[in-house]
Amino acid sequence: MTPSNESELTQTVLKSLEGTRDARFLQIMQSLITHLHAFIRDVDLKPDEWMQGIEFLTATGQTCSDKRQEFILLSDTLGASMMVVILDQLRAAAGKRGRAEASEATHATELAEATHATVQGPFYWEGAPDLPLGADVAQGARGEPTFYSGRVTDTHGQPLQGALLDIWSGDGEGVYDMQLEGAAMQARGRIRTDHEGRYWFWSIRPSFYPIPVDGPVGRMLEAMGRHPNRPGHIHMMVSAPGHVPVTTHLFVAGSPYIESDAVFGVRPRLVVDFESHPPGRAPDGRPMETPYWSAHYDFRLEPRHA
Ligand code: BEZ
Ligand code: FE
Repeated sequence: MTPSNESELTQTVLKSLEGTRDARFLQIMQSLITHLHAFIRDVDLKPDEWMQGIEFLTATGQTCSDKRQEFILLSDTLGASMMVVILDQLRAAAGKRGRAEASEATHATELAEATHATVQGPFYWEGAPDLPLGADVAQGARGEPTFYSGRVTDTHGQPLQGALLDIWSGDGEGVYDMQLEGAAMQARGRIRTDHEGRYWFWSIRPSFYPIPVDGPVGRMLEAMGRHPNRPGHIHMMVSAPGHVPVTTHLFVAGSPYIESDAVFGVRPRLVVDFESHPPGRAPDGRPMETPYWSAHYDFRLEPRHA
């Protein structure tokens, strides 16, 4: 078929997919082409604007390296990463029934009980040290000491012994170890829960920080009149055998940018009060000569559906 107008063009391109063998790939490409064509028509995209878009995507690719993933940053700042995260957790909660049948009721009950997930971000570094309960995960990172504690249970409240918390954060000034040339790991560690599902460890109180802005995504945010900051948070990947793992953060309540995270990662249930304490004996018996903070949070994991 030779298209004679813009509607026929879309139909012709869709028809060209007829030989696609993988059904899921076919579904994704059909939807992508349909939405892409509709978008071009919706904004009546001019050739120079289309070229600008091509140049932007080219620059995004050219900014990627083994240490920098500008496309993920683009996805994060457009809310696409969070959309994928939210849908994935919905699907896990709905189990075999699939998202299409995940009712409002499912959303309100099962999902409400699992700890909300959020973006992983680019600063996860595999191979953080296994540390004993109560250890100082900061490993020398700058910042105000903070005692973190809580429990890991399933969504029915059953404690999960030996659940793994893989923890990482920037320091008290908003800088990740990975951002420092040649730096060793800091503010990272893997901790396992005790027989009652309890965990506790020390680290620092994380600060807000800007995502990298020296590339095309930074220029896009500037053009949108948006700031690049994320509110203070500590990352955790929480997992236990037989349960759906959760990649999440705890956000510092009251942190600047808590209402306007540049990557839309804040979810209200992940915002935690950090309580300030004068010098004295900390909850784990550690004598503190300086003021310190504490943060308490219970994680809940969804049992894996058979
Ligand atoms: C982070 O929290 O580490 C992060 C997430 C998305 C983009 C940049 C940084
Ligand atoms: Fe972060």
